[in-house]
Amino acid sequence: MSTPFTGPEFSLTHDATSVADALVVGVFSGDAGISVDAGVPEAARGPIAEALALVGAKGTPGEAVRVPAPAGAGLGAATVLGVGLGAAPAGEDRVPAETVRRAAGVAGRALDGVGSALTTVSTLDLAATVEGTYLGAYRFTEFRHSSAPKQAPLGAVALLVAEGSQALTEEARGTVEQARRTAAAVALARDFVNTPPNVLSPGEFADRAQRLGAEAGLQVEVFDEEYLAAHGYGGIVGVGQGSSRPPRLVRLKHSSGLNDAKHVALVGKGITFDTGGISIKPAAGMENMTSDMGGAAAVIATVILAAQLNLAVDVTATVPMAENMRSDTAQRPGDVITQYGGTTVEVINTDAEGRLILADAMVRACEDDPDYLIDTATLTGAQMVALGNRTPGVMGTEEFRDRVAALSQAVGENGWPMPFPEELRADLNSRVADLANVSPHRWGGMLTAGVYLQEFVADGVQWAHIDVAGPAFNTSAPWGYIGKGGTGVPVRTLLAVLRDIAQRG
Ligand code: BES
Ligand code: MN
Ligand code: ZN
Repeated sequence: MSTPFTGPEFSLTHDATSVADALVVGVFSGDAGISVDAGVPEAARGPIAEALALVGAKGTPGEAVRVPAPAGAGLGAATVLGVGLGAAPAGEDRVPAETVRRAAGVAGRALDGVGSALTTVSTLDLAATVEGTYLGAYRFTEFRHSSAPKQAPLGAVALLVAEGSQALTEEARGTVEQARRTAAAVALARDFVNTPPNVLSPGEFADRAQRLGAEAGLQVEVFDEEYLAAHGYGGIVGVGQGSSRPPRLVRLKHSSGLNDAKHVALVGKGITFDTGGISIKPAAGMENMTSDMGGAAAVIATVILAAQLNLAVDVTATVPMAENMRSDTAQRPGDVITQYGGTTVEVINTDAEGRLILADAMVRACEDDPDYLIDTATLTGAQMVALGNRTPGVMGTEEFRDRVAALSQAVGENGWPMPFPEELRADLNSRVADLANVSPHRWGGMLTAGVYLQEFVADGVQWAHIDVAGPAFNTSAPWGYIGKGGTGVPVRTLLAVLRDIAQRG
């Protein structure tokens, strides 16, 4: 693998007059004109606001305006980059973390190719600034070939923090380190998604997961197509059999070493490319199906992160990987397969392949008796119809579903709880098998996929299913800390849930 994106170097400073190529300041909108954040030295606030206003800065979220640093304002930076924060919060209220993260992301994108930056936005929320800047600066250049020398990515970022005790500084260092590792995990998930499907076959994906998992100190197992066929993984085998590049199942385990730790099972859909199989997809937009392993990418990145952060929770990721192709060995509409655990399924539509590989993996994951099971997948176009491109659908056992959705919202990934209407189950009855893989209509397609998966969750396991069909891959313009392509969603949701379980059980 080529060198992964490593992000800028971060350091901490109390000196707002440090030398830098750019000083990043937060800009608030207001009826009486714009104002800049309080991390900026008081004497420089007026001149900076004036310079930014002169070129039209309004302080609206998403805005980035760069000007030469006003002379005589005592700044060490050559230029000032103002990033919009919207209206200043009233009274004692703080700027929401996600607002800071997005503004820092806008700065990270705007500073592509800039050597060094000093950011005052960090005085608003240190962790959000690190995450946003890192993820905004993210780029995927492995396959880019240009005659011009590659522009270096944003190199170094000094974070301005308010004067404090030594202890506070140590705490700040820890905050920066954790935020940087979190952002790096999101970037790893993005790298996986952005790697083209000719390169990232199931075998290659498994190899990379194995290598990175071992480096992080995880216990790793990789099962090949022969093992899967011999052990009854009919879903993974059925979906993978149309490709000359056979399927895999990867298991990665982080052990906390604690006796009373909760056990969380993670499962992620790893379709390295989804043509739809014999039920083939239309050509327009099919290239986006390179992202159909976004769920797998997120759970692999998350279990590695759990080890790096030494989280007080046991985490086992079970990751099915396959390529959904069509050929004379591909499964047919009408085939009956046997999922791991024995449930038979009539494959009515070979394009509803994600649930087939997930079901095998979820049954295997439940054999370990986890307390919690979270699966995530680019599972249905219906997720995008229901919730759009930026809002994951969260389903599952109600209490845990709501907890996962709330945590997802708290970290800015904005998962939303969705129901399992009871009438949907009967639509998955099959003429010949225990289950059909699709219903005879398209209504509530995201929920139907969840109802299918529900059949494979062991009794007593608290379960959440996160459909990220839209949110895992951005085909629109860059915004906030999200560029085009892989987004790394829902890594930060999964991390928040693991942290919450480690803390509260
Ligand atoms: N990978 C797709 C879902 C998808 C669609 C992800 C668009 C990202 C963007 C999935 O395998 C699929 O094809 N689902 C079908 C299910 C249908 C046949 C019941 C769909 O959504 O059309
Ligand atoms: Mn499909
Ligand atoms: Zn798919």
